[in-house]
Amino acid sequence: MAREHRVEFLPFGVKRTVADQQRVFDAAGAAGLDLASECSGGGTCGQCLVRLIRCFTEPTGNEVHLLSQGKLDAGFRFACQTRVTRDLKVFIPEMTLRSPKTDGGPEEALPHPTPSGHEKG
Ligand code: FES
Repeated sequence: MAREHRVEFLPFGVKRTVADQQRVFDAAGAAGLDLASECSGGGTCGQCLVRLIRCFTEPTGNEVHLLSQGKLDAGFRFACQTRVTRDLKVFIPEMTLRSPKTDGGPEEALPHPTPSGHEKG
């Protein structure tokens, strides 16, 4: 049986079980959270920026090149470059969310992040 992990997307409280090595970007999409992207997951546009809470992954070369050390230390990563290898909590900043996938209309199904929803690393 393939390994699976639990991922919680904050501040929405959306939880999903995902396969080992799945990209956070794809796991978010499967959870109905449409993340911004201009580079189709190439790791170069920076639009899929998320913040890992407490459980950081090793940054990729693109992340080291494009993100400040402070952001890396605070757990910021690119969702398209981050693979799920353990249970994770992932904070999705408002600017990263392209649009929620809902049947009924724009913004009512998922709450937007608020300053109080940010966690300090
Ligand atoms: S989609 Fe461009 S960096 Fe992730």
